[in-house]
Amino acid sequence: MSTCYTNSMGNEIEEVIIASEKMKERVKELGTLISEQYKGKKLLLIGVLKGSVIFFADLIREITIPIEIDFISVSSYGSSSVSSGVVTLKKDVGCDISGKHVLIVEDIIDTGYTLRYIKDIFQARKAESVSICCALDKPSRRDKNVNIEVDYTGFQIPDEFVVGYGLDYAELYRNLPDVCVLSPKVYSK
Ligand code: IMP
Ligand code: MG
Repeated sequence: MSTCYTNSMGNEIEEVIIASEKMKERVKELGTLISEQYKGKKLLLIGVLKGSVIFFADLIREITIPIEIDFISVSSYGSSSVSSGVVTLKKDVGCDISGKHVLIVEDIIDTGYTLRYIKDIFQARKAESVSICCALDKPSRRDKNVNIEVDYTGFQIPDEFVVGYGLDYAELYRNLPDVCVLSPKVYSK
């Protein structure tokens, strides 16, 4: 386990499931793949605030073709560890997306409701294409009523609530460098 968990957050973290070095290697692979697949195209990466910020910042620096960036913010969880399934738009992008290839960058896909909602928004605005890149995927949690595919995935993980590398619980833990399993005692209090 990384040394950073010997601080006051230490006993709230059960285990590191993806160490920062491992994520760094995978992000480099994703950046290379995206650079190859979007070569010669107008690519706009849209980060989903706030969870994707660390992944987003790492990913765009591994992309070697010209890109534009923007951000969107939605809310679906509140401060709970279980999705409400109801997604609302809190902050929209500031740019015109028609004719551009949109790549939505998200921290994690769980039930799939959030990304379905976001993808629908950009498809309706006549983007040239809309694809999805997620740092993490919990495939066993996907809701059977949601039809969504992830085009680029960092890692598939089991059904555990994770924090770190941008992911939070009640707005905390985003600054942990590794993806960690949060002790259920934190959210069952
Ligand atoms: P979905 O709509 O159920 O796919 O949920 C996606 C959103 O829920 C993500 O953008 C995250 O913000 C949040 N989320 C899902 N699982 C976790 C987790 O294990 N830790 C932290 N946030 C999560
Ligand atoms: Mg999120």
